[in-house]
Amino acid sequence: MQIVNNIEELRSIIKWWRGEGHSVGLVPTMGYLHEGHKSLIVRAVSENDRVVVSDFVNPTQFGVNEDLSSYPRDIERDAALCEEAGADLIFHPEPEEMYSSDHCTFVDMDKLTKGLCGKTRPTHFRGVCTVVSKLFHIVTPDRAYFGEKDAQQLAVIRRMVRDLNFNLEIVGCPIVREPDGLAMSSRNTYLNPAERKAALILSKSLSVGKEMLESGERNGRKVREAILRNMKAEPLAKVDYVELVDAETLEPVNKINAPVLTAVAVYIGKTRLIDNFTYLV
Ligand code: PAF
Repeated sequence: MQIVNNIEELRSIIKWWRGEGHSVGLVPTMGYLHEGHKSLIVRAVSENDRVVVSDFVNPTQFGVNEDLSSYPRDIERDAALCEEAGADLIFHPEPEEMYSSDHCTFVDMDKLTKGLCGKTRPTHFRGVCTVVSKLFHIVTPDRAYFGEKDAQQLAVIRRMVRDLNFNLEIVGCPIVREPDGLAMSSRNTYLNPAERKAALILSKSLSVGKEMLESGERNGRKVREAILRNMKAEPLAKVDYVELVDAETLEPVNKINAPVLTAVAVYIGKTRLIDNFTYLV
């Protein structure tokens, strides 16, 4: 497995693979990889002849007061995980390789990015759409793999691919959880032991909502209130949002009669965590 930092070098490797008739899968990541990422890579390896993992902490998707400088990084550990999962190449560019000093072109979206995480992170999805577009242009993959934990990101990328006619398939992969239910995230490393325990409130509260939907409740407001009540019982948790939205359009729903995404974002201490599930009516 090789680590490539340079766009032109990566392009020539892809060209060579294409010449050999190989299909190419891409797993975009910001590094500090965990079992969730590994499941994406393993899936990509099973469905493509060659797999590229991009490992790039993308500055344009961080707001001014967010954790860009402290975001965890460990390329050696990432390389070991990618190798074990069967990836062929890690693309690990410096920020200057991806963004020239006079970079001024962005990919943005009118809908889907305004609610949920977009409320507190108004420039986040512009950064995600921009870097993912760039990665799609550089790697030209047949398939790209994204985790369902970032449900809004997945819906936004699917829409971007449709709207801008990117010629690839987007593959969403299930959330991978710790044995106690906490959804895996690189940001879990910020949690101290008490916060780590408190963080279980996300998956536990979501289970309450899921049980209500499974036993026939179709009033979104009631489900939302039950989840919120549960969350508020945890003193270390500060709720950012609890929302039930249409799984495709991300518009809020009250009467549930189509697939619904129940998504939460919660601050545990200073760490903002997200989790969700989709209920197929
Ligand atoms: O999900 C992530 O880690 C990032 O948002 C992504 C898709 C790699 C873009 O930087």
